[in-house]
Amino acid sequence: MFFGKPKRPVGCDIGSFSVKLVELKPFKKDEYELLHLGIKTLPPDTIVDGAIIDRIPVANAIKSIYEEEKIKNNKIATSISGHSVIIKRINVPAQREEELEESIEWEVEQYIPFDLMEVNLDYQIVKTNPGDGTMDVIVVAVKKEKVEDQVSVINLAGKEAAVIDVDAFALHNAFIYNYPESSTLVTALLNVGASITNLVIVKGEDVLFTRDLSIGGNQYTSYLQKGLGISYEDAEKLKKGEITMDGISQEDVKNIIMQVSETLELEIKKTFDFFKSSNVNDSIDRMVMSGGAVHTSGLIDFLTERLRMPIEIFNSFKRINYDPMKFPKEKLEDLSPKIAVAMGLAMRNL
Ligand SMILES: Nc1ncnc2c1ncn2[C@@H]1O[C@H](COP(=O)(O)OP(=O)(O)OP(=O)(O)O)[C@@H](O)[C@H]1O
Ligand SMILES: [Mg+2]
Repeated sequence: MFFGKPKRPVGCDIGSFSVKLVELKPFKKDEYELLHLGIKTLPPDTIVDGAIIDRIPVANAIKSIYEEEKIKNNKIATSISGHSVIIKRINVPAQREEELEESIEWEVEQYIPFDLMEVNLDYQIVKTNPGDGTMDVIVVAVKKEKVEDQVSVINLAGKEAAVIDVDAFALHNAFIYNYPESSTLVTALLNVGASITNLVIVKGEDVLFTRDLSIGGNQYTSYLQKGLGISYEDAEKLKKGEITMDGISQEDVKNIIMQVSETLELEIKKTFDFFKSSNVNDSIDRMVMSGGAVHTSGLIDFLTERLRMPIEIFNSFKRINYDPMKFPKEKLEDLSPKIAVAMGLAMRNL
């Protein structure tokens, strides 16, 4: 499968909380070996509402991971998420590729809330339905300015943006490689980041539905900060259970965390309801969770109970070969849910 095209790009997930880099090497027939792995936290307010406010710390984070890890490969695959991306699965009359090429703009206009001049449009036929003479097409529109932002920060770090993807597809990519046995199950992939939570509903290789929710680990921190009148840094540590503070009870912290988890749950339920209304034949079997905020105190148990489905933590290294001397098990366990998107990017073809 990999024969003749061995090289892969460095997967680079630029999140608002941290930058993650993964480099893989094709291994044996259709496997990968881990070459490099690194993560750097960004100063608060470097990326706000999906916009890179300060490019220098982002470029520096990329450069310093490259230096520390001694990465030689300058070709990067990166991804975009949030408000600047629209992903829709649409149903159109069956037609040839060339015809679709001509009609796609007209077909998608009603679904894209941006001026088509301002977006990069891409699409893929995912299924033909001979029964009713239609086909399913996944359409992706990404704001050009967002792509330019991301490319410029990578160039500033002295690297080349060889592949631009979206978080949801990268996450799915990492999932199908690591969980090949789950092709008949409908799985909700939930990647809880700092400012965004990617929710991708998949059935094996098929992406059925995806939406980015504007909620994540930041909301826990800022609610603790405001609710308890403490600094951002203290709120962040309190959230992770790294400190206790005089005059603040565990009960107070727990209640605030619960409040945000409830908001997240409602957003997920709304999305599930929407999904069910248009996919009456598919029910969601389970959820696989990733992202830095996956370990938020009580979150997994809470969602398991409220959503009434089994939840497991995404294992980014499930089918990845690595040298345990170079990558200690504890380090991989800690990074595994955080680097799911970067992992999927590192598997892209150049
Ligand atoms: N042990 C922990 N407990 C609770 N929250 C945690 C823990 N470790 C990290 N987090 C939170 O995870 C979030 C960062 O996750 P991640 O690195 O996936 O975000 P990101 O990809 O940088 O952000 P985004 O994609 O949303 O812009 C932060 O809000 C951070 O506080
Ligand atoms: Mg992220």
